[in-house]
Amino acid sequence: MKRFPLSVFALGLLLFTFTSFTPPQKKDPPEKRIEDLLAKMTLEEKVGQLNFVVGDLFNTGPTVRTAQSDKFNEAIKNGQITGIFNIHGAEYIGKLQRMAVKESRLGIPLLIGADIIHGFKTIFPIPLGESASWDLAAIENGARVAALESSAGGINLTFAPMVDITRDSRWGRTAEGAGEDPYLGSLIAAARVKGFQGKDLADPRTIAACVKHFVAYGAAEAGRDYNTTDMSEYLLRDVYLPPFKAALDAGSATLMTSFNELNGVPATGNMFILQQILRKEWGFTGTVISDWQNITEMVQHGYSKDHAQAAEQALQAGTDVDMMGEAYLKFVPGLVRSGKLDQKILDESVRRVLWLKFKLGLFDNPYRYSDSKREKREIRSRENLAVAFDMARKSIVLLKNQGNALPLSASTKKIAVIGPLGNNKADMNGTWSFFGEEQHAVSFLEGIRKYAKGAQVTFAQGCDLYSNSTAGFAEAVTAARNADVVIMALGESAVMNGEGASRADIGLPGVQLDLVKEIHKTGKPIVALVSSGRALELTWLDQHIPAILATWSLGSEAGNAAASVLWGEYNPAGKLPLSFPRHVGQLPLYYNHKNTGRMYEGDHSEPGSERVYKSRYRDVPNTPLYPFGYGLSYTTFAYGAPTLSKSSITGAETLTVTVEVTNTGKVPGEEVVQLYIQDLVGSTARPVKQLKKFQKLAFAPGEKKTVTFTLNAADLAFWRQDMTFGAEPGDFKVMVGGNSRDVQALPFTLTSL
Ligand code: BGC
Repeated sequence: MKRFPLSVFALGLLLFTFTSFTPPQKKDPPEKRIEDLLAKMTLEEKVGQLNFVVGDLFNTGPTVRTAQSDKFNEAIKNGQITGIFNIHGAEYIGKLQRMAVKESRLGIPLLIGADIIHGFKTIFPIPLGESASWDLAAIENGARVAALESSAGGINLTFAPMVDITRDSRWGRTAEGAGEDPYLGSLIAAARVKGFQGKDLADPRTIAACVKHFVAYGAAEAGRDYNTTDMSEYLLRDVYLPPFKAALDAGSATLMTSFNELNGVPATGNMFILQQILRKEWGFTGTVISDWQNITEMVQHGYSKDHAQAAEQALQAGTDVDMMGEAYLKFVPGLVRSGKLDQKILDESVRRVLWLKFKLGLFDNPYRYSDSKREKREIRSRENLAVAFDMARKSIVLLKNQGNALPLSASTKKIAVIGPLGNNKADMNGTWSFFGEEQHAVSFLEGIRKYAKGAQVTFAQGCDLYSNSTAGFAEAVTAARNADVVIMALGESAVMNGEGASRADIGLPGVQLDLVKEIHKTGKPIVALVSSGRALELTWLDQHIPAILATWSLGSEAGNAAASVLWGEYNPAGKLPLSFPRHVGQLPLYYNHKNTGRMYEGDHSEPGSERVYKSRYRDVPNTPLYPFGYGLSYTTFAYGAPTLSKSSITGAETLTVTVEVTNTGKVPGEEVVQLYIQDLVGSTARPVKQLKKFQKLAFAPGEKKTVTFTLNAADLAFWRQDMTFGAEPGDFKVMVGGNSRDVQALPFTLTSL
C-alpha cells in the first residue's frame, strides 16, 4: 500500500475532529457500542487506545512525561492516549477525564492506572510480609481497602497483584510477591484479585487488577533484576505459571508482560506464552499490558532490529497495550498501511481495551472514580488503619525466642531502642508505596513508647542504614548499658528492595551487624526487629541474639503492630513464605527442590570419605536457616501422630488426613497446620515436598483440635513427561507439620486414575 505523507494524515485527523460524530448510544449493548466505535476510529485513534503513559507524580521507569504539560493535554485531546498511570486525586483525574470525554473526537474515557501494590494512602505490609500471614481473608481485605481508597481518588486500574515466584532473595522484587511456593502463591494471587475487583468491576469502589509479570520474571539469573530466564517447560508450568492462572481464574481483568526474555524470546513478544498458553489454553480474553518500555527493549535484548519490528512482534504476540514505549503510536499505523501487520490484530487489541473501559463503567460515567467526598471520607479512615494494623501484626514472624525472651514483661523499666530503623518513618512503608505519605507511618520508636507504659525509653541510632560510619556506636553502647532490654531495629531501607534493587550480599546492610556485635558485648538482652523485602542472611543473629522478629516493611501501622507483638498483646502467628538461607551462596534455595542422585542429608559429622562425593557445600549445610512455613508463637503446639482414612486410593476417591493439634502453652495462639506431599516416582522426577493444603486455626490455651484435610488425584497432578497434566499412580508420602521441615510422614498409594 502506498504511504501517505504524514501531513496528509494530520490534515485528515483535523478534519475528522471537526466532523460531527454521534457517540454510541448508551442503550446499545457494549458489543455493539464497541463495534460502532471501532468503525469510526482512524488508525491513529486506534493506536492511541493502546498507548499508556505515566503521569507527573513520580516515575517508576527510565523516562518521564509530564501530565500537566500541554503536549500531554494535546495528546489526550487527540486521542493518542488510552490512559495515564501513577497519578491520583479525584479532582485532577476528573479534569483529565473531562478533557478526554469532552475534547477528544470520540470521547473515549481514560484508564487511570497506578501501582497500588500494598495499599494506597493507608499502607499495608509489603506483599511478601502480608503473605507471611497465610491469612487469605485478611489479604483479600487489605486489597479491598486499597481499592476503596484508590478508586475514590480517581484510579480504576492497579498494576497488581505481582505473583512472580521467587527462589532467589537476591532479587529485589521478592518483596512484591508471595514468596517461593506456587500453591500458597496461587491462593494469595486469587485473594488479592478478589479484593481489588470485588464482585463487579462496574462497582466504582473496585478497581481492575493486572496480574504481573508474565512470566518467569522472578527466575532472573543470579537474582539480578531484568536478567535472562531460561527454564524447562515443566518448571514453567508446574511452578511459575500457576499463580497467574489462579489470578485469571479469580477474574483479573488484565495482565502485564515481564521484562525478561524466556528461553530466548522476550516475554512481551513471546507467542508461546502469550498466544499458546494465555489465549489458547487458558482462554484469556482480557487486556495484556506491556511493562515500562519492554516492547522497545526487545531491541536491546537482541530480538528485534528496531522499534518498528518490536512493535510488530509485540502486537502479533498479543501485547495489547504499550506502556511508555510509544512504539505502537509511532509505528503501528505504518505497519498496518504497509500490510506488514494485519489490521484485524490491531482491532482485536483495541476491542480488548474498549471492553475493559466498558467493564469499568467508564463509558456510562467517566467520573465515577473521581469522588472528592468519598476520597476525603475513605482515605486513611480509622477503619482502614485498623485493617492495616491487623494485617501488620499478622505479617510478623517470630524467628527465634530463646528462653521466652518475648513477650516483654510489663515490669520492664528501662528500654533502649537502637538501630537505623528505630526512629524512622521514611522506611516503614517500604517499596512501592508512593502514594502513602511517610509522615503518617508510625515508627517503631513511637509504637514502643506507646506500649511501654511508664517505662523509660531511650533511643540511639548507632549507625545509619548503609554507610560504614561507626561514629554512633559509643552512644548506642551507653544506651544499651543503661537499659534492661535492648530492642534493635535493623534491616533494609525501603529502596534496598523492590524494582532494580537486587543485592549480591543479603546480610544486614552497612555496619549494622557490627553494631549488633557491639551491643551484644554489653550482655544486655536483645530483641531484634529485622525489616526486609527478602529473606536475609541472619546466621550470626540466630547464633547470638535470643529474640528475632521478621518485620518486613509493615506499612502505616508498623510501630504499633511491632509493639503489640513485643508486649504480647498479639501473639505472633506468621509463617515464612520463603526459605531463609544460612549463606547467600546457597541461593537459589527453596523447600520444594528435587533430590539429586547424591543428596547429602548429614550434618557434616561423618568421616570425609562418606561425604565427599555428595551434593553439598564444604562450608555450609544444604538446609535453610529458617525453612519455608516456619514461625514460632508465644505458645507451643503439639502435633499428634497423623492418620489416614485409607492407605490407598483410586483416582475417584478421596484420602482424609487427620491430625490432632494441641496448644500446650499458657496463652491463646494461632497455628498454620501445613500438609505436604511427595510423589516418590514420577515420569519427571518430583520435588521432595510440595505444599498442598493448610489451615490457620486459633487455639485457646490447652485446646486440642482435630484437623482434617482431604486429598484427591487432582492434588497430586503435575506436568507429566508427555506434557499432559495429571497425577500418576504410584507411591506417595503425605507430611503434616507446623513448617516444611518439622513434619510427620505417612505413606499412601494412588492405585489408578
Ligand atoms: C514495573 C511494573 C510497574 C510499572 C508501572 C515498571 O517498571 O516493572 O511492575 O507496574 O513500572 O509503574
